[in-house]
Amino acid sequence: MTLSLSVSSDRACRQLDELAAFSDAPAPAVTRVLFTETDLRGRTYIRKLMEDAGLSFRVDPAGNLFGRWLGSEPDLPAVATGSHCDAIPHSGRYDGTVGVIGAIEAVVALRVTGFQPRRSIEVIMFNSEEPTRYGIGCLGSRIMSGQLSPNAASNLKDEGGETFETTRTKAGCSGSLNSVRLQPGTYHAFVELHIEQGPLLEQQNLPIGVVTAIAAPAAFRVTFHGEGGHAGAVLMLDRKDALLPAAELTVAVEQAAVELGGNDTVATVGILDVHPHAINSIPSRAEMTVDVRDIDLERRDLVLEAIKKYATEVAESRKIRIQLEMINADRPAKCDERVIAAIRAAAEEANLPALPMISRAYHDSLFMALIAPTAMIFIPCRGGVSHRPDEYASPEAIGGGIEVLARTLARLSLA
Ligand code: GLV
Ligand code: MN
Ligand code: MN
Repeated sequence: MTLSLSVSSDRACRQLDELAAFSDAPAPAVTRVLFTETDLRGRTYIRKLMEDAGLSFRVDPAGNLFGRWLGSEPDLPAVATGSHCDAIPHSGRYDGTVGVIGAIEAVVALRVTGFQPRRSIEVIMFNSEEPTRYGIGCLGSRIMSGQLSPNAASNLKDEGGETFETTRTKAGCSGSLNSVRLQPGTYHAFVELHIEQGPLLEQQNLPIGVVTAIAAPAAFRVTFHGEGGHAGAVLMLDRKDALLPAAELTVAVEQAAVELGGNDTVATVGILDVHPHAINSIPSRAEMTVDVRDIDLERRDLVLEAIKKYATEVAESRKIRIQLEMINADRPAKCDERVIAAIRAAAEEANLPALPMISRAYHDSLFMALIAPTAMIFIPCRGGVSHRPDEYASPEAIGGGIEVLARTLARLSLA
């Protein structure tokens, strides 16, 4: 199949810049948290791009957005592609967005050539891939794949105590969450375009990565309940400072990953909040999160369990009450050989050398892989930097990724 495609990386980059302007952080940082006013404006922007591309638009009750290009055999399972547009606090403009805006541009490029898909092609913008508001990542795709029950999703609470049920209703997402789940077989294949968020492609000067597997993420929340008091008046031996076990645990998290894990094991404390957060007050409460990942599930669990055990022990030794709540513990995903082969063939057609690689970050693909043959296309990003305001992917890298995505979708849609 020789398509003479003309991808407009200029248009895609302009759209990425326009979307980045919907932010609650000053540029170049981007903060776009699920169902905030800013996020709602971003979602309207994406909806318009989908409609302008001639896609028929719908939104599901969880707030996932869909734009469908009908194939000549519309009853066949469609080929789906997409990613997310929410952005964690003070991050960049390319994480996720390249896979949504890039997917719409891929459709536009295919349309312009006169290409007619046999299977429908569906662009998806998943809701809340980032865990910022409700603590758990991949909210939309988790519900879609049946990994989070509608009831559990409804009852998730944000920091202000508002439930997901309330927030989605206020955001205009009506209908029962029961209808969000998709049965295996709904999609013939799923492909996600994303920046690498690591340094390998840039280091090897390669334009395309073909993801063969996605590392298994897990996260839990720990709260230490100590005793607050006056920072001047309470003597050291009389204290139950809640921050101290949290500090010890933070160091132990690094140690566990390094000493018990392997090269692919990573562990992070990304949140550590102290109450009442005053210079002259002993912390009465410390809340922290622990994020542990590995491509090897057994090793991930070994490290995870060691950290949990240490948390309990350190609390006990300091006579401080501990509350430990698992957020998620997901399995790794193995990408589908057939979809990988389609991406490789598309990259070859585009004359873009492709490197097989694993994804250390998680993506909606982790969950889509449970209900559809799935693989991912990576493009290089500067210095491998992500989740930072200086995240950057060049127009050339973005254009190459979109071209490979378009050719992959074309192949899969004719299969
Ligand atoms: C997604 O942003 C992740 O944390 O891997
Ligand atoms: Mn991210
Ligand atoms: Mn992402």
